[in-house]
Amino acid sequence: MRIRELPLDSQVVQLLEGEGLDQLYPPQEDAVKAGVLDGKNLVLASPTASGKTLVAELCILKHVLERHGKAIYLSPLRALASEKYKEFQRFSSLKKPGGEHLRVGISTGDYDSSDPWLGRYDVILATNEKADSLLRHKAPWMNELSLVIADEVHLLTEHARGPTLEVVLTRLTEINPKIQVLALSATVRNAEELGEWLHADSVTTEWRPVPLREGIYHDGQVQFREGTSRIVAGQTNSPPLDIALDVVTKGGQALIFSETRRSAVEMGRKAALALKGQAPKPEQRSLDAISNRILSSGEKTRLSEALASQVLTGAGFHHAGLPGAHRGIIEESFREGRIKILAATPTLAAGVNLPARTVIISSYERYESGYGRYPISVLEYKQFCGRAGRPKYDKFGESLLIARNHDEAEWLMENYVLAQPEKLWSKLAVEKVLRPHVLSTIAAGYARTEDGLYDFFSRTFYAHQYGPRMIKGKIGDILRFLCTEKMVEMEGKELTASKFGKRVSELYIDPESAVIIRDGLYNRAKKLTDFSLIHLVCKTPDLAPRPRPRGGEFDGLGLLATQHSEEFTFQVPEQFEDPVAYDEFLGELKAAQVLEDWMEERTEDEILEARKVEPGDLLRLVQGSEWLVFAAQELGRLFGHKDLLAPLEMLRVRVTKGVRPELVKLVGLEGVGRVRARMLYRAGLKTVDEIKEKSLTELTSIPTIGPSLAKKIKEQAGGLIKADEWEKAKNVKPSEVEQQVMLTEYEDTN
Ligand SMILES: Nc1ncnc2c1ncn2[C@@H]1O[C@H](COP(=O)(O)OP(=O)(O)OP(=O)(O)O)[C@@H](O)[C@H]1O
Ligand SMILES: [Mg+2]
Repeated sequence: MRIRELPLDSQVVQLLEGEGLDQLYPPQEDAVKAGVLDGKNLVLASPTASGKTLVAELCILKHVLERHGKAIYLSPLRALASEKYKEFQRFSSLKKPGGEHLRVGISTGDYDSSDPWLGRYDVILATNEKADSLLRHKAPWMNELSLVIADEVHLLTEHARGPTLEVVLTRLTEINPKIQVLALSATVRNAEELGEWLHADSVTTEWRPVPLREGIYHDGQVQFREGTSRIVAGQTNSPPLDIALDVVTKGGQALIFSETRRSAVEMGRKAALALKGQAPKPEQRSLDAISNRILSSGEKTRLSEALASQVLTGAGFHHAGLPGAHRGIIEESFREGRIKILAATPTLAAGVNLPARTVIISSYERYESGYGRYPISVLEYKQFCGRAGRPKYDKFGESLLIARNHDEAEWLMENYVLAQPEKLWSKLAVEKVLRPHVLSTIAAGYARTEDGLYDFFSRTFYAHQYGPRMIKGKIGDILRFLCTEKMVEMEGKELTASKFGKRVSELYIDPESAVIIRDGLYNRAKKLTDFSLIHLVCKTPDLAPRPRPRGGEFDGLGLLATQHSEEFTFQVPEQFEDPVAYDEFLGELKAAQVLEDWMEERTEDEILEARKVEPGDLLRLVQGSEWLVFAAQELGRLFGHKDLLAPLEMLRVRVTKGVRPELVKLVGLEGVGRVRARMLYRAGLKTVDEIKEKSLTELTSIPTIGPSLAKKIKEQAGGLIKADEWEKAKNVKPSEVEQQVMLTEYEDTN
């Protein structure tokens, strides 16, 4: 089927033909035949790289250019939302029926806002979580939507984030009964069931435009699914790197998926060593230029320096801890073929288009706080593979898993390469997951009676899969809890949320966490300290699962409990009377201890070593408690605890930045993190006013502060910079920048 034969606005045909598109791919043709351009709902379950985005684009343009419609595009990942945002920008040249240009907007950030300005856009890209938050805030434009696209909809089955997507889809279709739903999915076993739920037809295909060969590497040899094999020369002590080097020798590019940020950086470093001195002269010049671009954009940190030096040889790394500007440069340089080996965390695993001829999955395991290590799902494996062999870039692709021994090689072949992707199962009916959604349904006025509530939840995928009765009992329990805790009031059949309930729903925290915080703030400790408040936050289910205390730690934690015995806002459980509660308490204590270490300015490495926490735990605790302390401030305000607002604000900055109280003001300056703030403090600059009075040369004499940063912070402090002062300071070379960066986070794919 040719694009020009489709019932499309002529501007669209022109634009797509201008991009070299002529024929639809078979899955796209199937989607059109299923009526997707006539407004029919559709689940398109089709392999990676089979062109699902184009179907979404055609639908969007149909709605906006021909039907005065408005579309929302839901993505599970920020990285994917911003890639699509960049791609969709090209539609801005198209004109709507009234003559106005089409407008594309994006919203992925802060959850506590309703972003009314988004209403001006015709196409809005949002992460699933952001869309959920917008619905809670009742963003007015949400009920003007005529099309919703749920990309990577198979993530519905993920226990951590799937339920949010499920509720968002249920809600959007409820408030916009006529909305067209287009769900894009990897190939799954029950696409039809998903379709039934969404009142959609489903199209499932196995078609991929570029052949993808999946295989297992073991002991110098790759065994492919179809029986062929290939030898890989061993040049280093790292199998993923050996494979990547082999690909580069043959003129391709390799993408290595690493499990953590730290391992991605390390893999990039090894790749850089191996590639050193190999780039031909002209190639080297452009690598030099990329490296300089990295150094001259964004803040100079140990991480940016590592990246800049790796890039010089044609290697690099990519993870969500890099500033956006650097991620952009790396993606672009990899796309242009300058970077040959890229080590990335799973943030690049879904949806994105990259020229990776070979994808190497260096670990098929994942770590999650409280759950430990577990093997990834087949679905996730397929997403990794799917980054290889993208039609724009390669004629074929291959993706390889690494086995440590023969048995593992067989296991991997059977359980990933030859395995069928899993069925999608709703994970909504876990109480902790369901509670906030029940509250938000009432708080945002989506249900005004008990029956209305059941009605809403009977339309979820969960109810579709397990029957509405299963979920009804749970909702009843939750409703009772919300009424007892005065978040919801029930009068006859009417349900209304109290001010408390509404604020909790908007704050995006578990109602049970809110109750713990409310009671903790009310109870007061004998001696209220930062430790009291941080422990309070650690007690909430929003910070669970908490890192478990190890064998040798119990005595130390017991001692810590005694030392702080007057600072707890709750009764400490008795070790022998209630051992289960006591165990739980020790877990809270350990989390508080880790956060206290962080606020006492211990380095990340020290904390990981001393507390035996897994990489990833620390950052999750920091980010989670940052938000919970903010929520505690809001609840403190609501319940009239004026005296606690200042201590909570102090704590919020301390936990966000990881600093002692005396640095709280200094870290408020842009470009000043915990390390630089400490340097300034040590140099006698203890307040912002003192910085204002210093000359640039004095500032640059402080370790880690270069001329442009000195200028930036002096300006922020309100100081005046004379022209000759800048002339004098600008060429000073900053001393070794020892910025601490959190490397070890297991990628939070959000
Ligand atoms: N009809 C077509 N003709 C030529 N190229 C196409 C066509 N449709 C899509 N493409 C190209 O195919 C590539 C992959 O498409 P897309 O990103 O939509 O894949 P996808 O199905 O969404 O994969 P994933 O599951 O990995 O997200 C893109 O580079 C796109 O430009
Ligand atoms: Mg896609």
